[in-house]
Amino acid sequence: MKHFLTLLDLAPEDINYVVHLSSLIKTLHNDLGISEMNLLKGAHVALIFQKPSTRTRVSLEVAIRRLGGVPLYLRWDELQLARGETIHDTIKVLERYVGCVVARVYRHQDLVEMAKHGSIPVINALSDLYHPLQAVSDLQTILEVKGSLKGLKVAFIGDGGSNVCHSLMVACSSVGMDFAVACPSRYPPAEHVIREAERRAKASGSEVIITDSPEEAVREADVVYTDVFVSMGKERERKDRLNVFLPRYRVTKKLLINAKRDYVFMHCLPCRRGEEVEADVIDDEEHSIVWLQAENRLYSAEAVLMYVLKPDGVKSLMRRY
Ligand code: CP
Ligand code: NVA
Repeated sequence: MKHFLTLLDLAPEDINYVVHLSSLIKTLHNDLGISEMNLLKGAHVALIFQKPSTRTRVSLEVAIRRLGGVPLYLRWDELQLARGETIHDTIKVLERYVGCVVARVYRHQDLVEMAKHGSIPVINALSDLYHPLQAVSDLQTILEVKGSLKGLKVAFIGDGGSNVCHSLMVACSSVGMDFAVACPSRYPPAEHVIREAERRAKASGSEVIITDSPEEAVREADVVYTDVFVSMGKERERKDRLNVFLPRYRVTKKLLINAKRDYVFMHCLPCRRGEEVEADVIDDEEHSIVWLQAENRLYSAEAVLMYVLKPDGVKSLMRRY
């Protein structure tokens, strides 16, 4: 049985595989008109959300239905979890009703607990530490736009410790993309993520750069990426964080002069225009690919569900197309 908690658990070839599977699924849907694959026929999937979500929740619900499964959206605060029932007891019950749990949580450790005590696969829909569904989708989007991944440089500007930065760093270093993070020294990526990304970068022939200089990170970048300065769960730190991040780490047109001429701008969304990114950057139709990025969450959600729940079905799909 497989879980999908962090890309640190996936070998580089598996990350590559899920990214390419996402692209294949998009082609099957859009170019070949194959809309229903029924690989999850009859499977019930619980979607437990402790935090708000637009993209992740909706793409997963649609993805599960398109694969013939049945999604059950469950708000954490409406489950007995909110009244103190343990994760252990909750998963022991849910595993008797559903075939998989997808969860968005404040504490990554809660996902680890679910995986440890349950007998069904657990998929991370975002935790304080990682957002692996986002990173798979982002590589699919870069592949679609640039035609390849290896040798490209991604610059991430802002909160180095954000879940999105962590997962993207592991994903990029695994597939041979250079990954530069520009962040204030108070908000670096977690040490264990840097160490593993450096190890993977060495093996894939790429580089991980951590700097406090947005100009240095963006230099000759193919992709410039940012995320909010105040992630969900950190709202009480808002004033402090904005004092540290602004104005230096905001992505502006002026900063982007340092990137390659054909750079693309990416943001996981939701964004705050005027905070981490200027409106004329995110709304620039020539360079910003944020809507395509959001769209691809649907195909990558299908790919991850298949990878986790129906690995044999995927093989037969690959053989057929
Ligand atoms: N990018 C992303 O995960 O968006 P949601 O919070 O809307 O799911
Ligand atoms: N880092 C952000 C990502 C939102 C998709 C957050 O956790 O709020």
